[in-house]
Amino acid sequence: MTEESEPQAEPVPRSVLVTGGNRGIGRAIAEAFVARGDQVAVTTRNGGAPDGTLDVRCDITDAEQVEAAFAQVEEAHGPVEVLVANAGITHDTLLLRMSEDDWSSVIETNLTGSYRLAKRAAKGMLRLRRGRIVFVSSVVGLLGSAGQVNYAASKAGLVGMARSIARELGSRSITANVVAPGFVETDMTGVLTDEQKAAIKAQVPLQRYATTDEVAAAVTWLAGDGAAYVTGAVIPVDGGLGMGH
Ligand SMILES: NC(=O)c1ccc[n+]([C@@H]2O[C@H](COP(=O)([O-])OP(=O)(O)OC[C@H]3O[C@@H](n4cnc5c(N)ncnc54)[C@H](OP(=O)(O)O)[C@@H]3O)[C@@H](O)[C@H]2O)c1
Repeated sequence: MTEESEPQAEPVPRSVLVTGGNRGIGRAIAEAFVARGDQVAVTTRNGGAPDGTLDVRCDITDAEQVEAAFAQVEEAHGPVEVLVANAGITHDTLLLRMSEDDWSSVIETNLTGSYRLAKRAAKGMLRLRRGRIVFVSSVVGLLGSAGQVNYAASKAGLVGMARSIARELGSRSITANVVAPGFVETDMTGVLTDEQKAAIKAQVPLQRYATTDEVAAAVTWLAGDGAAYVTGAVIPVDGGLGMGH
């Protein structure tokens, strides 16, 4: 048999878990993994996961729900080999107006929720002796943002968390990386006024928002063979907005 006629190896389907995949960035990420042939589970509070995925209800602020979600995913697809901690919220207001609840709800969802997911996913990955963890952070975690003290702190925290996990679990071929999107057209940014959107675009070297697919492309790359030697990295998908940080 000549080299040309060798059958192409089919990509092995992996058990992928994407949080917050019923809309926005998470939905595009889940769809990209489905297109690659992976077995994809999507967790949200409200359901509505994309076609071809396992629709799992899970509020990531509730440890018991996270445990139940992993049990459901493992039963259907086996241990999670790729975790994408994407679910996140904002409660924007200026520092002096920020309530305890504005602070703690954002930290609890974006940072503690991601910690909970990574910790639970790591158990299975350690047994597999491989795994990819991708945290969806934000350019705001690196640049700061007036009115987003809670959100920026939660997103900056993901960087320290990913880098610590990268050091703890690297010897088991488990990588932990961060994708830091700039501004992406989703429900989250839909609340901004036209003036705010125009002001943001004016600061972006590429002069536009990212598409959700552009963020998904970075995530699937970090989860793929080509990124096997990449860990503890922060990959910006921000049109140049945060460069230098
Ligand atoms: N849009 C941007 O410009 C932008 C820029 C940088 C970073 N990001 C980050 O990218 C991620 C996705 O953003 P997006 O714009 O796609 O947001 P989005 O459209 O508002 O979607 C947020 C997702 O998170 C889920 N979610 C929220 N709280 C949850 C909870 N407690 N438990 C489980 N799921 C929860 C939501 O599902 P349910 O409501 O059904 O639970 C939804 O699927 C977030 O981490 C965000 O911070 C976004």
